[in-house]
Amino acid sequence: MKLLVINGPNLNMLGIREPGIYGKESYESMQQRIRAHAEEIGVQVELYQSNHEGDLVDEIQRAYGRIDGIVINPGAYTHTSIALLDAVQAVHIPTVEVHVSKVEEREDFRQVSYIRLACVKTITGHGIDGYLEGMDFLKQYCEGAAQ
Ligand code: DQA
Repeated sequence: MKLLVINGPNLNMLGIREPGIYGKESYESMQQRIRAHAEEIGVQVELYQSNHEGDLVDEIQRAYGRIDGIVINPGAYTHTSIALLDAVQAVHIPTVEVHVSKVEEREDFRQVSYIRLACVKTITGHGIDGYLEGMDFLKQYCEGAAQ
């Protein structure tokens, strides 16, 4: 089983950006934890980060026929991007939406999530652990679907 973890804009700045909201752990450390967790649960994992909407769309399209499940934190594009929603719907790969912060307790403009319409689960406010939980969920979800 192969999972893809996608991070959108500014998530490469984890540890530096607003640590009171997003925590002190860096993107580098997140990558290490995701790779270690993949090994632990016996799945393959690819990681991708971009600050550009079209590049994120390209990466989702590239997953078609290759990837069994996607964990995505689209960053601010969560609240604006119909293109990312369309891409996830197009490839028809089970996708979990993850947010480091508890978006539902933040500003009004963060209450809209386009991509959520195409996701099998949403995890918010669990910090970097949320990505690992998303991977666990997809493993079970995909194994269930295969039976
Ligand atoms: C975020 C929440 C978004 O509103 C914000 O724009 C981000 C990060 C999160 O992980 O909590 O960049 O997706």
